[in-house]
Amino acid sequence: MDWRSRESQIDDPEHTRVAAFYQNNIRLSGSSFPSLGWYNPQTQRVRFEVFMLLGALQGSTVLDAGCGLGDFYAFLLEKHSNDLCYVGLDLMPQFIARAAERFAADSRARFVPQSWEQWQSPVDWIFSSGAFNLGQPEPYAYVRKHLLHFLTLARRGMAVNFLSNSTTATQRDPNFFYYDPAEILRLALDLTPHVVLHHDYLPNDFTVFLYPSF
Ligand SMILES: C[S@@+](CC[C@H](N)C(=O)[O-])C[C@H]1O[C@@H](n2cnc3c(N)ncnc32)[C@H](O)[C@@H]1O
Repeated sequence: MDWRSRESQIDDPEHTRVAAFYQNNIRLSGSSFPSLGWYNPQTQRVRFEVFMLLGALQGSTVLDAGCGLGDFYAFLLEKHSNDLCYVGLDLMPQFIARAAERFAADSRARFVPQSWEQWQSPVDWIFSSGAFNLGQPEPYAYVRKHLLHFLTLARRGMAVNFLSNSTTATQRDPNFFYYDPAEILRLALDLTPHVVLHHDYLPNDFTVFLYPSF
């Protein structure tokens, strides 16, 4: 499959590193869990459990920014049966094709092969797990820009996680960028005063919640 010809923003220089990383994983492991770059399904799930603290999702619209194979939607179905309206976006058309096939019978879920920068419709909640792990040449400016974009679209709130540099864990994956949680907190507070930071669920990860208002 020629991923460059597919409908997404992989030509954008900000996406080149992201797309190259996942494309290489897909070449090695196909559109399967190992290609997402997670350590294991348990730690992926712990991150989803933290997302559940964001707010009451029943009957709401949810955007999953960087949805991978749609695992968060599977998790949401367990928690909320089928009363959500869900959109998953991902740069990688192969992940989106797999997720769409997985939930083909479910009319409440939609999977779209595009970057979240292209998404302009308001939703109630935005979630993004692992999508900032690769870092960028200006990682904090990149995060700020995208948190601001999410905040303009999320009517009720948003949750985003990051790898943390504030950890006792000695092993770090050189492919990934480990953020200073204090710096992320500072930039989140610059966008909205309504911020929660969780840094208590895995050794090297944290999640920020941003709300336009309480
Ligand atoms: C570590 S994977 C996690 C996938 C999923 N959130 C999960 O928890 O299983 C991160 C995903 O974010 C996607 N991603 C990164 N930047 C993106 C962007 N600007 N727009 C859409 N997807 C993006 C990548 O293609 C990748 O599939």
